[in-house]
Amino acid sequence: MKRIFSGVQPTGNLHLGNYLGAIRNWVHLQDDYDCLFCIVDLHAITVWQDPAGLSANTREVTAGLLAAGVDPADNIIFNQSQVSGHAELAWIVNCVARLGWLNRMTQFKEKAGKHKENASVGLYAYPNLMAADILLYKATHVPVGEDQKQHLELARDIAQKFNNDYKTDLLPIPEPLILGAAARVMSLRDGTKKMSKSDPSDQSRINMTDSAEDIARKIRKAKTDPDNLPDSPEGFEGRPEAANLMGVYAALSESSIKDVCAQFGGGQFSGFKQALSDLAVAKLAPIQDEMRRLMADPAHVDGILSDGAEKARAIAEPILKEIQDAAGFLRA
Ligand code: TYM
Repeated sequence: MKRIFSGVQPTGNLHLGNYLGAIRNWVHLQDDYDCLFCIVDLHAITVWQDPAGLSANTREVTAGLLAAGVDPADNIIFNQSQVSGHAELAWIVNCVARLGWLNRMTQFKEKAGKHKENASVGLYAYPNLMAADILLYKATHVPVGEDQKQHLELARDIAQKFNNDYKTDLLPIPEPLILGAAARVMSLRDGTKKMSKSDPSDQSRINMTDSAEDIARKIRKAKTDPDNLPDSPEGFEGRPEAANLMGVYAALSESSIKDVCAQFGGGQFSGFKQALSDLAVAKLAPIQDEMRRLMADPAHVDGILSDGAEKARAIAEPILKEIQDAAGFLRA
C-alpha cells in the first residue's frame, strides 16, 4: 500500500512556496495515495508562538489546504497535537537518532543562528519529531519542497537504524517526492534565498492571503537583473531571479520552464512581470475566496480537524503498539 504523510507548520501565513512546493502537489497526489496531511503545531512551538495566534494560524492553514483542493472526505487532515502518538514515538526516535546526525542539520543551524545556546531543545530535536510523524503511519511517500530533503534523509536513516537495532522490518523506508518546477521558490528580494515565513521582509514573499494589489506590487518590485529574459533554461546561469520568476510562472501555468523560456525569452522583465502577476492573481483568487469563506466558519474547520484526528489515531495506535512491542515495552 502506498501511503503519503506530509505536514505544514501553522507559524504564520501560507505563502506561494508552501503552495507550489507542497500543497498543490498534495492535491494532485490525493487520488493515487492514501493520504494524511498534518498541521504540525508541535513543530511550530519549537520557536515561541503566541497561543491565540497558534490557534488562529492552525485554522487558517487548514482553510488553506481545503481551499487549495485537498478533500477531507478522501484524505485525513488533522493537527498533530490531537494525536498523542506523535509525541510518544518522537521519544523513541530521540533514542534511535544520533547526536552526530542532528548536528549536521542545516535548518537548525540557520534557525538557531548565532544564539544556538538559547535555542529550544525542541528546535534541535525537530527533525526527530518529523521522522516520528512519518513512521507513526508507516508512510511510504512524503511530498515536500526541496528544503525538507535533508530532514527526509534523516527520517530514512532513523527507520533503517530502528529496523537494524531491533532486528525487524517493521518500518518502511519513506521516499521523498520533490516535484515540479517550483520545488524551491526563492525570495522576491533575493533569488539566492528561499521564500520563507520567517523572512522579516513581507515584500520577499507572496502570502496566500495577499490582495490582488499586493501581489501585483510585490511582483512589480521583485528583484531582477538588467538583461533580457533567457530563451532557454541554460541562460539561467548566474541569474537566480530570472530562474525563480520563470519557474514560478511555469508552476502556476502547469507548463515546463523550457516552454516559458520559449514564450518570454528575449523579452524584458517588465512585460513578463505583468503576465506573471495576472497569472498569479487569476490562480490564487479562487483559493483566497474559499479561504475567506472557510475562515468565517471556524466550527466547521475545527470539526474537520477533529474528524481527521480520530481517523489518524485509528491508524497510528496499532502501529505504535507494534513499535513498542519491538522495543520490549510491557503493556497490559
Ligand atoms: P513548512 O511548514 O516550512 O513548509 C511546508 C511545506 O512547504 C514547502 N516549502 C517550500 N517549497 C518550495 N519553496 C519554498 N520556498 C518553500 N517553503 C516551504 C516545504 O518544503 C514543506 O513541504 N518540517 C516541515 C513540516 C513537517 C513535515 C513533517 C513535512 C513536519 N513533519 C513530516 C513532511 C513530513 C516544515 O517545516 O514545513
